[in-house]
Amino acid sequence: MSRTSLGSGPRLHLGLGLLILALGAVLLSGCASPKMSWQTMAAQPKFVSYDENPFFRDQMSNRPQVPNTVARGFIASPTSAYVTGKDAAGNEVSEFPYPVTMAMMERGQERYNIYCTPCHGYTGVGNGVVVQRGYPQPPSFYDPRLINAPVGHFVNAMNAGWARMPTYAFQVNASDRWAIAAYIRALQFSQNVNVQNMSAEQRQQVEAGGSP
Ligand code: HEC
Repeated sequence: MSRTSLGSGPRLHLGLGLLILALGAVLLSGCASPKMSWQTMAAQPKFVSYDENPFFRDQMSNRPQVPNTVARGFIASPTSAYVTGKDAAGNEVSEFPYPVTMAMMERGQERYNIYCTPCHGYTGVGNGVVVQRGYPQPPSFYDPRLINAPVGHFVNAMNAGWARMPTYAFQVNASDRWAIAAYIRALQFSQNVNVQNMSAEQRQQVEAGGSP
């Protein structure tokens, strides 16, 4: 009597354990096993790329991009004034899309010195080393036509290229184009400062041969 009652407990646990093991083996054996007779996940009803799909009017399961969708990391459309420097009517814009700060100016100077000086030169008169070795000479940025040109003119030249100058859109991103344009404006201003508008200290520096 005492032996039976002692023995029934462990035997029950063993049976339950085996059942759980067997169930687990079935459930964990994977869905795509070819031996299984029931429907597998891989064979569920679905449309794969280029399948015909009667649900849509064009009968295609691939859906076209929603117009004007902006992908992650692409904030500007390639035809926007921010990218091209031109408004919808094709006119060069005369305002910066974001405030001109000292940090932006320094960024513009750095980028200008890297990408534009080979031809336009450090001061922008158009005497870069490449030009000294035979490349067509660009006009000086101090040409009155370029002093009066709207800021979008410079952004447009960088984005689309200008006559014999190739596009710099691949080297210089949209935000940097505006920074470079701001720096070119500063260069232009630097050559046209009225001495009367300088402080006594700045005048002394210029007279001593330094930069103000
Ligand atoms: C490989 C030489 C080269 C480099 C580098 C270069 N440019 Fe030019 N750029 C030229 C030449 C040459 C012209 C004149 C093209 C013509 O009129 O045929 C020009 C013209 C321009 C004009 C138009 C001037 C006008 O007549 O209205 C602007 C603005 C300009 N460049 C800005 C830049 C900026 C900003 C950079 C730097 C991102 C740059 N360029 C880099 C060669 C260069």
